[in-house]
Amino acid sequence: MASATEATHAREHWGSRVGLILAMAGNAVGLGNFLRFPVQAANNGGGTFMIPYFISFILLGIPLMWMEWGVGRYGGRFGFATLPRMFDRLWRNPIAKYLGVLGIIMPLIVFIYYTVVVGWLLGFSFFSLTGAYFGEGATGVADYLASFQNIREGSGGWVGFLFFGIVLAVIVSVLSRGISKGIEKLALFGMPILFLFGLVIMIRVLTLPETAVGSPGEGLALLWTPEWSALNDASIWLAAAGQVFFTLSLGMGSIHAYASYLSEDDDITLTGLTTASTNEFAEVILGGTIAIPAAVTFFGISGLAAVSGTYDLGIVAMGVVFQNLPGGLIWGQLLAFMWFFLLFIAGITSSVALATPAMAFLQEEFGIQRATVAKILGGLALLLGFANIWWLAGGFLDEWDYWAGTFGLVVVAFIEVMIVRFAFGIDNFWVELHHGADLRVSNVFKFILTWVTPLFLTLLLGWWGYTEALPKLMMDGVASDVERSTRWLSRGFMAALVITVLVLIHRAWQRNPGVSIPPSDTREDFEVAR
Ligand code: ALA
Repeated sequence: MASATEATHAREHWGSRVGLILAMAGNAVGLGNFLRFPVQAANNGGGTFMIPYFISFILLGIPLMWMEWGVGRYGGRFGFATLPRMFDRLWRNPIAKYLGVLGIIMPLIVFIYYTVVVGWLLGFSFFSLTGAYFGEGATGVADYLASFQNIREGSGGWVGFLFFGIVLAVIVSVLSRGISKGIEKLALFGMPILFLFGLVIMIRVLTLPETAVGSPGEGLALLWTPEWSALNDASIWLAAAGQVFFTLSLGMGSIHAYASYLSEDDDITLTGLTTASTNEFAEVILGGTIAIPAAVTFFGISGLAAVSGTYDLGIVAMGVVFQNLPGGLIWGQLLAFMWFFLLFIAGITSSVALATPAMAFLQEEFGIQRATVAKILGGLALLLGFANIWWLAGGFLDEWDYWAGTFGLVVVAFIEVMIVRFAFGIDNFWVELHHGADLRVSNVFKFILTWVTPLFLTLLLGWWGYTEALPKLMMDGVASDVERSTRWLSRGFMAALVITVLVLIHRAWQRNPGVSIPPSDTREDFEVAR
């Protein structure tokens, strides 16, 4: 029963369960699985990294994933897809909605720099087919990538920018079509291709013959041989937990937004677990079995460190690997295309998810048409994406990646857990989670969600804040004045976005205060009791 304060617009819904699962998997499976994961694993001791990774997955990843699905579907019942409204419903405190600002801003910021990278990948897909960078060694491919990234000199940067523009055009078109006709269709079409290409490349890598410097087996051993003594290194724990957040899209607001388009009786326990498992398959099995073993085969264990920068492993090293495959260049070009196109699909399906909270916010709160909002966001991304590229060398994009895409996710999750834990109540949440559920979640997870996850997050945030975020905030180790000013500029842009959305939230509540929604069904009984 709708009340005057509920959203009055007709809400969209997912068309089918398989479409929902693939869309949610598309949301989570992204560049994090194929570019970020191997780099994090390689730089943090390989097998040693995997232990805190799996522990974080169970103690943070799974419980938070269920929480975000639950909170998201709950928000959808009142007609809203964004965190300000959800927090406001969960915690009847005037500041709750303002805390939700992060659930719009963080994904928006990640969306903008993420699509810049997706543009490079689309460019590499195309130039793999033409063989443009074939014949280059690691330095040559790195220079080729750098030319894409440099808009200030030469024309290569504009070629990269053109691909960025194409990516944005695709995204605007998908977003304009809406949830089931746009995002779900993209996932139904894209995700099977992604998995097919991933499996083909994985098999090719695993069957590579040994070279003078290494073999696929040595790469796998690196990832799967734990060094227990290194486990007391806190930085490995932070890296592993950060990876779990990024890869599952936790603390981004995008899971909430997607879950809000569920029908209120739809299952979330089994479906949520299925998509998280699909993400882990893509990350640990596909992501873990492609880049590291391939790079170790052609660069050796000792050469791996030199190609383990953020984009070096998945783009530069792989760009070299495909040139050296047995079977000739055409085969190499085709597989290179499959790899970069897989990355493009992974990136684009996550990009539309990252854009969804901001899309929904403007549609729901200000009644702006979907297609118009999509164009506004596309234009904003083009402009701010340009800023990211223009000031790339000075660390502009790195700042966004760190504050929104790494540290910020943990902050959002922390706020959310505290609101659910202390304002809404875990018992209430457990009722909500199991409404329509196809899977009864063990009470062990209730215990974890009540005690372990909040504690783990608090320790993580405190330790991370102290050892890493604080020095980063103070720009320790940034010697050049140009870089310092670029990083300040980058922060200034982020601050401006936060302030703008805070003002918009304020205006939105003036339009629709959204309080005192009367209970409309038995599930709200627990709210009355509060
Ligand atoms: N979860 C998305 C990724 O892994 C954002 O890239």
